[in-house]
Amino acid sequence: MHDFSNKTAVVTGGATLIGQALVEKLVARGARVAVLDVDRAQGEALAERLGERVLFLATDITRDEQLLDAMEATEARFGGVDFLVNLACSYQDDGLQADRSAWLSALDVNLVSAAMATRAALPAMRRRGGGAVVNFTSISARVAQTGRWLYPVSKAAMLHLTRCMALDLAPERIRVNSVSPGWTWSRVIAELSGEDSAKADRVAADYHLLGRLGRPEEVANVVCFLCSEEAGFVTGADYAVDGGYSAMGPEQSRPAIPRLAE
Ligand SMILES: NC(=O)c1ccc[n+]([C@@H]2O[C@H](COP(=O)([O-])OP(=O)(O)OC[C@H]3O[C@@H](n4cnc5c(N)ncnc54)[C@H](O)[C@@H]3O)[C@@H](O)[C@H]2O)c1
Repeated sequence: MHDFSNKTAVVTGGATLIGQALVEKLVARGARVAVLDVDRAQGEALAERLGERVLFLATDITRDEQLLDAMEATEARFGGVDFLVNLACSYQDDGLQADRSAWLSALDVNLVSAAMATRAALPAMRRRGGGAVVNFTSISARVAQTGRWLYPVSKAAMLHLTRCMALDLAPERIRVNSVSPGWTWSRVIAELSGEDSAKADRVAADYHLLGRLGRPEEVANVVCFLCSEEAGFVTGADYAVDGGYSAMGPEQSRPAIPRLAE
């Protein structure tokens, strides 16, 4: 198990289900964690539940001054910043119908704010002599999904931002990687399935080789690995945490050639 004693992580979007699983895991391994989110109710409840090693900072990541304040508050409370996880996202996406302001707002949350959060965290990471950044992309980064333009495009850009950041931050001893989850048990999936995880698993089975949804803890495990020294030679990489979604092609896992003889 990774030992994150004396390490501090900043997690944007940490109030969400996947974020909470990550924060819990980081804390269980000894880290202190600052959660930056606009969801005050969930964020405060999480900090209360996990105790003094979690600091919730109500922060809108699209506001540069709030990001700077949050990094300053984290360093003041915990003595530094070692890891930054850019997890917050917006699913706002009307595809073809989205106007300019919808595009800019989706890209602002999903992409530009990850770059700005990294800029804001950099001075504190430099003072620690290095660190690790983990960006959240998605299976949606690599395939087109009908009706959706903003979210997949922002996640595709995040993949490349990860490589750009890895290149320029390597001399600072900061590794930058991303995770691309498949369908994961989360607020949206809980809402859409009526909190029915068995039903969500059944629907997900068609698209994921492992025949089910991912669990928030399974995504958190890979993020912890990427932060840890065990990933000391890993940078500029994307890790699929998708139960085999991205290994499947259009033929899915059903025999296609025999259809010619039907
Ligand atoms: N849920 C899935 O199946 C799935 C699949 C692939 C990738 N992902 C990725 O995993 C991450 C978490 O996804 P989720 O489904 O848990 O998301 P979610 O919508 O449940 O949570 C997003 C979080 O971001 C926060 N947020 C939004 N705008 C913000 C802002 N301006 N400032 C600060 N915080 C803000 C929200 O308050 C929320 O807590 C995202 O990056 C998402 O793209 C999720």
